[in-house]
This record gives sequence, C-alpha cells and structure tokens, in this order.
Amino acid sequence: MKNKFYKKETPYDGLILSWFYSIWRRFNNPRLHKKLTSIAVENLALQKGDSVLEIACGPGYGFVNLQNAVGKDGHITAIDYSSAMLKQAQKRKEKNGWDNIDLIQMDARTIDYEELFDGVVSILGLSVVPEWELVFDKMVDACKTNRRVMDSIKGCLIMSAETRNIIGEMDKRLGDFEVLYFMNGLYFVASGIKL
Ligand SMILES: C[S@@+](CC[C@H](N)C(=O)[O-])C[C@H]1O[C@@H](n2cnc3c(N)ncnc32)[C@H](O)[C@@H]1O
Repeated sequence: MKNKFYKKETPYDGLILSWFYSIWRRFNNPRLHKKLTSIAVENLALQKGDSVLEIACGPGYGFVNLQNAVGKDGHITAIDYSSAMLKQAQKRKEKNGWDNIDLIQMDARTIDYEELFDGVVSILGLSVVPEWELVFDKMVDACKTNRRVMDSIKGCLIMSAETRNIIGEMDKRLGDFEVLYFMNGLYFVASGIKL
C-alpha cells in the first residue's frame, strides 16, 4: 500500500478542520499531547525494523516517536480520512526525509489491511472517530498475535468520551491490559496484547 491520498475526498474532509486542529493543538497543552504520545508509543514495545500502523494519524504528530521506535529499517503505515490532514502529514514526512512512511486516505471503519503489523496505535483517535467499535475491531484484526494494540488519548475536549467504553472494550478483548490515567482521568493511555 503506497501513498494513496488526494485520490478520494470524503464528506468530513476540509482545510478548515485541519487548520482548526493545528491551532487547537498549539494552544491546548501541546506538551501534554507530546508526552502522552511518547508514552503511548513507548508502551507499544516496538523494536527496530518493526512495522506499525497508526490509525487517524492527523497531521502526523506521532511520527517522530514512531520513527525513533522502528528506525529507518522499520515501516509506518498511517491512515486518515482527511486529505487536508494528510497533506500536513506529507509535509512533515518530506521535511524529515521519512521515506518509510506510507500515508493512506481511507476510512478506518472499512479498510481491510493487506498485512499484519507489529503494533497498532491510535492517538486521539478512538475517542473521535464515528462508530469507534468498528475501528477498534479493525485495529485488533490488523495486529499480529502477541503484539500490542494501543489507544489512545481521550479527546474529551473534542467530544465527550464518557459515552464510549473504550477502556472496558480493550480490557475485554486484549491480554496483559494496562491503562495509565493522567490529569484526574481526563486523559488515558491504554494498551494490551492481541491474544
Ligand atoms: C483529533 S485528530 C488526532 C490526530 C493525531 N492522531 C494526533 O494525535 O494529533 C483525529 C483524526 O481522526 C481522523 N478520523 C476521524 N474519523 C476517521 C475515520 N473513520 N477514518 C480515518 N480517520 C478518521 C480525523 O481526520 C483526524 O485527523
């Protein structure tokens, strides 16, 4: 699967959304976002040379941590359905010379992956995507057995995550489940092993 974006517009696509997100992130505690992203990627326990799937990658804020984890011999597949977000991710990829990233514009609810990954991560993803259960199913399907599936940072300021039992579902479906809470439970980082 190679860079497939620009090819398909979606109803949710749009420059305004992607600009809004960049501005929101600049002012809404970017240090915390960076810290939690770094913990999330660390907990994936990736090795150099591994392949990793990032769902709802947005502008690619997680790439630097993922690159450090898998190295130049590893591979990152990053999915988002917004071409505006993916344009920002592409700029970040080019600026840093990260040739081992494939950016794919797809709906994470319906995509079928052609391979299994050593780790699957979504940051501020499951708490935002519509029909998150479908996306979570796809994340688990895409992960190799005994490797880690990781979500997330709860995006409470974007959408109330309280109605989404992400932690309960992860606990039910994954082994060796761990969840770390930050800021009185406003944010969490959770991971488990695909059984
Ligand atoms: C809050 S942003 C998070 C971006 C990035 N992971 C980060 O940490 O900054 C949520 C992203 O989810 C994407 N998204 C929402 N629903 C999606 C879906 N069904 N399939 C793929 N991407 C989706 C949006 O386009 C957006 O880029």
